[in-house]
Amino acid sequence: MDITARIERSLHTALAPGATPPLLNLAMQHAVFPGGARVRPRLCLAAAEACGGDDPALAEAAAAAIELMHCASLVHDDMPCFDDAATRRGRLSVHRAFGEPLALLAGDALIVLAFQTVLRAPIRHPERLAEIMRIVADSVGTPTGIVAGQAWECETHVDVSAYHRAKTAALFAGASMAGAAAAGGPIEEWRAVGERLGEAYQVADDIGDAISAAEEMGKPVGQDAALGRPSAVRELGLRGAVARLEALADAAAAAVPPCRGRAGLGALIREGARRLLPKTLPAGAM
Ligand code: IPE
Ligand code: IPE
Ligand code: MG
Ligand code: MG
Repeated sequence: MDITARIERSLHTALAPGATPPLLNLAMQHAVFPGGARVRPRLCLAAAEACGGDDPALAEAAAAAIELMHCASLVHDDMPCFDDAATRRGRLSVHRAFGEPLALLAGDALIVLAFQTVLRAPIRHPERLAEIMRIVADSVGTPTGIVAGQAWECETHVDVSAYHRAKTAALFAGASMAGAAAAGGPIEEWRAVGERLGEAYQVADDIGDAISAAEEMGKPVGQDAALGRPSAVRELGLRGAVARLEALADAAAAAVPPCRGRAGLGALIREGARRLLPKTLPAGAM
């Protein structure tokens, strides 16, 4: 089974409705399906494979947990008290489709479901399961996870790099480390791969926000300037942001520890990061 199918299957299993109130179930499904690039669970499964991939069920549970956390963060991020975005992935954001109470609850439920998903995995390696729970929790909570990252938007003095590391790179680092953990690999050695890739990803998102069309992004653009958010483009200019993205992608590829398929994985990371650049990049920005 290919990686995409494994990810979708594990997410569908996690989101089996059971006795969930029907509207909440619909709001949760809307937040997760159809997905975006699923880049974090891909990274998680790639790291697990590179570390030997001896417990695929646990790796899939970890990958699903990471993606559920990501989807939850998007639901809350789009709400009026944050970015007030009407669209996401080319359709209505969850609060626009279902109202704010259900959006808030869907986000909450997805966060808890992420932990439930790891806890429901077949227990072959209890010590790995505990590590995955720790990694997932650290990548969304305080002091350096998504919640902390979003909270930097409420502060007056913000270091863009610290803000990006927390709001975006922490979950990418969680993805690579949870993948390694699921296969009994060297967890800390995988941190920098996800961290650098996540930073690259947020720089690419900032570039897209500054110069892409909303149709290309599937969500509102020009938000960073409109909301006064710290952004890589504001800090470095367009050309500087593109150079930063490429340096981060190279750093992510170079950080892949010795493992099966190291060269291929590095190439995939560089290529993937380059594809994040908007198609409409003006001449001279590269
Ligand atoms: C969007 O993430 C939010 C950022 C951290 C930039 P993605 O671009 O990975 O969103 P989807 O899941 O593919 O829609
Ligand atoms: C979102 O950052 C990061 C999250 C933690 C959800 P942005 O606000 O820049 O992402 P988009 O542009 O809404 O996807
Ligand atoms: Mg935001
Ligand atoms: Mg946003």
